[in-house]
Order: sequence, then C-alpha cells, then structure tokens
Amino acid sequence: MNLIVAVDNNWGIGFKDHLLFRIHEDLKRFRALTIGKTVILGRRTLMTFPGCRPLEKRMNIVMTRDKHFRAEPAWICHSLEQLGRFLYNIPDDGIFVIGGASIYEQFLPYCRTAYVTRIEQSAEADRYFPDLDRQDGWSLISCQDYISLDAQIEGRDEQVELQYSFCVYEQEKPRRLFL
Ligand SMILES: NC(=O)c1ccc[n+]([C@@H]2O[C@H](COP(=O)([O-])OP(=O)(O)OC[C@H]3O[C@@H](n4cnc5c(N)ncnc54)[C@H](OP(=O)(O)O)[C@@H]3O)[C@@H](O)[C@H]2O)c1
Repeated sequence: MNLIVAVDNNWGIGFKDHLLFRIHEDLKRFRALTIGKTVILGRRTLMTFPGCRPLEKRMNIVMTRDKHFRAEPAWICHSLEQLGRFLYNIPDDGIFVIGGASIYEQFLPYCRTAYVTRIEQSAEADRYFPDLDRQDGWSLISCQDYISLDAQIEGRDEQVELQYSFCVYEQEKPRRLFL
C-alpha cells in the first residue's frame, strides 16, 4: 500500500478543510501516480473535492462511520476491518491512501511507500502528517528539488514562487491489513 501527501515545513497538510498550497506540477504528479488505481480517503477530504465528487478514473473508497452516506460511484467503507475485505483482491502497489490527517494516521503502519511533496514554506495548519524523518522504520529513499513559479497559497489569489521536493520514503516492515 502507498500513500501520497503534500506537507509544509512543519508537516502541516490542511487548514479549515482546505489544502495549504496548490502547485500545478504536484497535482499533475498526484494524477499520474493515482490514475487507474484504488484511492482511500476520509469523508472530510471528499468534501473538499470539486462538487464533493469522487476522483475520476480511480476506484474511490471513502471512509465514514455514517451508515447512510453515499457518494456514487465511490465505494463506502465503515471500518478498517471492512476495508480489508474490500481490498482483498487488489494488488498492494495499486492502492493509494490520499488523506486526510485521520486516514493517514490510521493507515501509516500498513504503507510501504510514501510519496511526500515537501513544500519549503510554513503555513497556518490545523491538520498534520507524522514527521517521517522521526518515525521508526521509515527511510528517505529519494528526493528531487524543484521550483514552481505559479504556485498558489490557499485563500490568496496571486501566484507565488515556491520551492518543493518530491520525496519518496519507504517503511521497512509495513503491517499487513489483511490477515
Ligand atoms: N496535503 C495533503 O496532501 C492533503 C491530502 C488530503 C487531505 N488534506 C487535508 O486534510 C484535511 C482533512 O483531514 P481530516 O483528518 O480532518 O479528515 P479525513 O481524514 O479526510 O476524514 C475524516 C473522516 O473519515 C471518517 N473516518 C476516519 N476514520 C475512520 C474509520 N476508521 N472508519 C470509518 N470512517 C472513518 C470519518 O467520517 P465521518 O465523520 O463521516 O464518520 C471522519 O470524520 C483537510 O484540510 C484536507 O484539505 C491534505
């Protein structure tokens, strides 16, 4: 299982149900990595998508404890145990955990690879991702630095220059979700 996330200098990922930044190249990479795959997301993250709609060209699995919640064509899942049954036939490397904070936290032990966009900027945040440089069992495998000239800070209209890195971390011994 993989995860994909964009973090700021403090591993912040969101504020008031929004992303912190918009970097065109990062969204492009997110799409390239997840298209045709299965994505797992929390109900609150789904609500941040345009029209609160599931992502196209991916099998979306939305986690919620609300038994009446629907978001077709997404699959709805109410617990990790139920998810284990949903994912039984899907290859592990075809599954991407895409947030938000509560979902990342619960799935981190099960992920082998984390695609982390590290943005060289500090923003006000109320949702965080665990600092992978300080997590036992996780190692940085690669990191490539870039500059975006037309990035956006959430809530502001103007385009700004932002430095960011595409980093890949790996966990040596991820737990198995399905026994
Ligand atoms: N920077 C990034 O890469 C990135 C990516 C994604 C999201 N984000 C940001 O993260 C923030 C949202 O994160 P969040 O932690 O507030 O919300 P979230 O993780 O997206 O969703 C939380 C919801 O998921 C459901 N849920 C969680 N665990 C569950 C379980 N074990 N079984 C069943 N349902 C479960 C619950 O839904 P119910 O309340 O319906 O029961 C819970 O309220 C936003 O600011 C968003 O923009 C950032």
